[in-house]
Amino acid sequence: MFEMKEEYYLGVDAMDAEHIKLFEIAEKAFVLLNDQFIIDKFDYIVKIMEELRDYTVVHFSDEEAYMESIQYKKIFSHKIEHQEFIEKINQIDWDEVEKDQEKAILAILEFLNNWLVNHILYTDKLYV
Ligand SMILES: [Fe+2]
Repeated sequence: MFEMKEEYYLGVDAMDAEHIKLFEIAEKAFVLLNDQFIIDKFDYIVKIMEELRDYTVVHFSDEEAYMESIQYKKIFSHKIEHQEFIEKINQIDWDEVEKDQEKAILAILEFLNNWLVNHILYTDKLYV
């Protein structure tokens, strides 16, 4: 479900490799959603979201360093999009997740899918 498609490649190898990793983390959440054998998925969701947050922090700082290195003009608004993403993850209401895990994972996946695809296709593509 979550994978790098042809059109997501920016042609900047380091950034593409990191985007692949982000899709892999999203795919983990998708596999978790469909796993019928795990009854309580809460700890797994927390782990995946922690991995996602930690990795996006690394990826965003690498990407921002890259944009600076090429003196990209729209770096400021791009950074804001990155901050908003991190904030969104930090704002997850874990009580709500506990209450309805299925719904929570679906919401996370929907958010991730929209964000990854739109951000890479429309925001990241601008700096290449
Ligand atoms: Fe970006």
